[in-house]
Amino acid sequence: MNGAVVALVPAAGRGVRLAEAMPKAFVDLGGTSMLTRAVDGLLTSGAVDRVVVIVPAELCESTATALPPEVTVVAGGAERTDSVRAGLAAAPEADYILVHDAARALTPPALVAGVVDALRAGHCAVVPVLPVVDTIKSVDSDGRVTGTPERSGLRAVQTPQGFAADVLVRAYAASGELATDDAGLVERIGETVTCIDGHPLAFKITTPLDLTLARALVAEGAASGEEVPQ
Ligand code: C5P
Repeated sequence: MNGAVVALVPAAGRGVRLAEAMPKAFVDLGGTSMLTRAVDGLLTSGAVDRVVVIVPAELCESTATALPPEVTVVAGGAERTDSVRAGLAAAPEADYILVHDAARALTPPALVAGVVDALRAGHCAVVPVLPVVDTIKSVDSDGRVTGTPERSGLRAVQTPQGFAADVLVRAYAASGELATDDAGLVERIGETVTCIDGHPLAFKITTPLDLTLARALVAEGAASGEEVPQ
């Protein structure tokens, strides 16, 4: 089917979390970095034509060496939005853009394909979501609860988020703001964002506890995307 799909993986944050010695995307998960696993998942989906990885300038060369030759590596910017913009500039041929978080390193390829299917079906912005299991409160700066949104109307959003390329480019052109959520920028220009079912294995590896879980899943071979302990 027509329509080039390019996946962007912004990994240019220098923030060292997870109590590891290197930026999160380069943390090892069973002998393979999170970034490499995330890229492999995108390529294995069969739904992505090209992957553009965005890293700190000084890591461009070493990252390119570590990834498959068909992956493009470009230097990111000061903020995540700058890094995504650098990725967009390196993907002029794209009809559809996925933006994927390297920290969701165990995302099943079938989820990637599902996002692309929904784009090809005509949705201009697609996000994988899961129901929220915790009750969520809004709070003020003093820690006082200001509200309790109805849980049934809430979803936790995963990646890859998928977009018709022209819509994402327009959303970034309209925004001077910093954004951690690309779909949020698309909402702000009045376009509809559509949800599809996410997957537990697409969880974001953020805390040392997440890393322990991810390493256990990799060691068990459970990260194939099919058999997930619930
Ligand atoms: O710091 P935070 O977790 O919000 O970053 C989200 C993602 O954006 C990370 O994958 C990080 O590497 C990426 N990022 C980036 N360029 C920056 C800052 C963050 O690509 N300047």
